[in-house]
Amino acid sequence: MLKKPMSLSPRIIRTADGSCTLYREDIDETYHSVHGALAESTHVYIENGLLALKEKKEIHILEIGFGTGLNALLTLDHAAEGQVIHYYSLEPFPVEGDTMLEYYNQFAIKPVSLPSLGKMIASGGLTVEIRPGFDFCLLDKTLQSLDQDDVDGLRFDLVYYDAFGPSKQADMWTFDTLNKAVDLMKTGGILTTYCSQGQFKRNLKELGMQVKNPKGPAGKREMTVGVKL
Ligand SMILES: C[S@@+](CC[C@H](N)C(=O)[O-])C[C@H]1O[C@@H](n2cnc3c(N)ncnc32)[C@H](O)[C@@H]1O
Repeated sequence: MLKKPMSLSPRIIRTADGSCTLYREDIDETYHSVHGALAESTHVYIENGLLALKEKKEIHILEIGFGTGLNALLTLDHAAEGQVIHYYSLEPFPVEGDTMLEYYNQFAIKPVSLPSLGKMIASGGLTVEIRPGFDFCLLDKTLQSLDQDDVDGLRFDLVYYDAFGPSKQADMWTFDTLNKAVDLMKTGGILTTYCSQGQFKRNLKELGMQVKNPKGPAGKREMTVGVKL
């Protein structure tokens, strides 16, 4: 299990598309792809997740790893007109506010919804309305310790599985941990992630998921989408 560092102000790194990522020196890992943070989040979580459900009038999203909030902001940016979204995000190791501010300052093109970030971070475990039709709840919890009560007894249409990679945080990709996420999904729900590790995909299949491997974002041959059967 990942240990909480003394202070979490990871280093800001510019990525290939002009957006930035954070680098955690203690585990030698970035929060996004250095080939383009914005491009990766857009491709993996928006195009292969949110937009696949654009016809649904109301969706529940669970994000594993809020991090910089980039996926949440892009979800606000790309939500279909009139679609109601309930967004739950887990973050046991929140990034310090000053680092967040400096991080987005350095983006060549900022997410349109960036002004909503403060409200998300300040929500403190409560569900808040970010705008009409978009509720948000940030939970200071690990996936491993999450109970269904923490998410108001809900099951999810879409899971953004954005944990650190298997070589850095192996416990996020085990059968038991993935089982927790899959258990919280609705039948027909989608789990999307940048990861395409073989053992991870076998675990998903064993958990009764249909596994697809769309083309990955820049710098990656493939990514993974699992559909709960
Ligand atoms: C790859 S980064 C996420 C990037 C993020 N989605 C973004 O848009 O910036 C992985 C995140 O998972 C968080 N994390 C670490 N252990 C976790 C756990 N056991 N459960 C849930 N999240 C965890 C980390 O603190 C980190 O913020």
